[in-house]
Amino acid sequence: MDKPQTSTLWGGRFSESTDAFVQRFTASVQFDRRLALHDIRGSLAHAAMLARAGLLDADEHAAIVAGLEEIRREIGEDRFEWSVGLEDVHMNIEARLTARIGVAGKKLHTGRSRNDQVATDVRLYLRDAIDAIAAELTRLQRALVGLAAREAATIMPGFTHLQTAQPVTFGHHMLAWNEMLERDHGRLVDCRARLNVSPLGAAALAGTSYPIDREYTAAELGFAAPARNSLDAVSDRDFAIEFCAFAALLMTHLSRFSEELVLWTSAQFGFVNLPDRFCTGSSIMPQKKNPDVPELVRGKSGRVAGHLMSLLMLMKSQPLAYNKDNQEDKEPLFDTIDTVRDALHAFADMMPALTVNAPAMRESARRGFATATDLADYLVRKGMAFRDAHEVVGKAVAAGVASGTDLADMSLETLQGFSATIGPDVFAVLSLEGSVNARDHLGGTAPRRVALAAADALERLDARASPRDA
Ligand code: ARG
Repeated sequence: MDKPQTSTLWGGRFSESTDAFVQRFTASVQFDRRLALHDIRGSLAHAAMLARAGLLDADEHAAIVAGLEEIRREIGEDRFEWSVGLEDVHMNIEARLTARIGVAGKKLHTGRSRNDQVATDVRLYLRDAIDAIAAELTRLQRALVGLAAREAATIMPGFTHLQTAQPVTFGHHMLAWNEMLERDHGRLVDCRARLNVSPLGAAALAGTSYPIDREYTAAELGFAAPARNSLDAVSDRDFAIEFCAFAALLMTHLSRFSEELVLWTSAQFGFVNLPDRFCTGSSIMPQKKNPDVPELVRGKSGRVAGHLMSLLMLMKSQPLAYNKDNQEDKEPLFDTIDTVRDALHAFADMMPALTVNAPAMRESARRGFATATDLADYLVRKGMAFRDAHEVVGKAVAAGVASGTDLADMSLETLQGFSATIGPDVFAVLSLEGSVNARDHLGGTAPRRVALAAADALERLDARASPRDA
């Protein structure tokens, strides 16, 4: 990119250099260049509409189309010379077009303003980004559902307060993650549908006096309809905020998954193993294998939540219609898109490669008195009130803690010392399998249920329309 142009080296050095600074300060081409292809797409639709309305003749239209196609090639091959002096992506492309084709290039901006132009570009760009992100999200969900089916009967301790609570199956846990992502996908589809209206024709803020055809440009660009109000069309950035809200919540979910993976891969848990290619070592401690991918995703969630805050604060109190403030929407939005896409990509690659250490999970569930609730429920079935049963089992657990014995390893005699109603059938209840198998209802952790729920989830994913058709 070139240096800002300054007219002379002489005199008024301070004001000269201030001008150059302001030029750079107010420019956006450094970051809005990434809208270039969508800007060209919008311009092609606008030019076609101008030609149909008789505002461009056939030759002018053909010259504009050829010129824009050539610029598209230049950009694609990285031959385009971006100039900070031309402020933003829109003026860079328009200036280049006019330099190539002459006066016809100057007619392209008829009935249009950069205000409706940029609002259109960002929507088109974000729409494509959403489609790519939805595909990665679906890929990750498929991985989780695949793991759930594979590990439907694998027992692990379920936690509350990160203390062993009750046995669950690993597949059930994966499906819990999948539920979060399912809701995220719904929010993404929703956001796409709401952003999919065309600002073109709103011009600077009030519309235009030319006989334009807003339905035509909207349809050309794949928008569902033209935006209904010109003032709102040029100033609305709700769609960017909505997307960042989706993204912040998705990253919050990924940070929760990450935290669990970090715990589970530690020597202390040893529940799962991540393939080496998703980890790094330590330069000093030879034994280390660090779960960098989940750690980084956990870290990046903070930055995406920050971008949501930036956009909310950016729009807060802005009077209608367009304000230069809006130029500040791009960096947070673009970084959110990149971060979310990369985080999903990493997770979607990593999760199918994860292996579980079933014996370690089983041993951990066994050690933590995970079937204490099952014993209480057993006593209730034998006629005891639940609160009394809770008390009895509490005493049994306390004794188990003191002697280092799990409930399932106590003798019948010992157990009967806590309640005479306990019979030999208690051991079926105290086993981990007995515990998970008993929870055989909709949403429960029984392997049979988890297998069914995984099949269901897969069916939903198979039936999922691409957000484009939603
Ligand atoms: N670079 C500007 C932006 O991103 C484009 C719109 C400029 N409009 C204006 N009236 N200065 O918002």
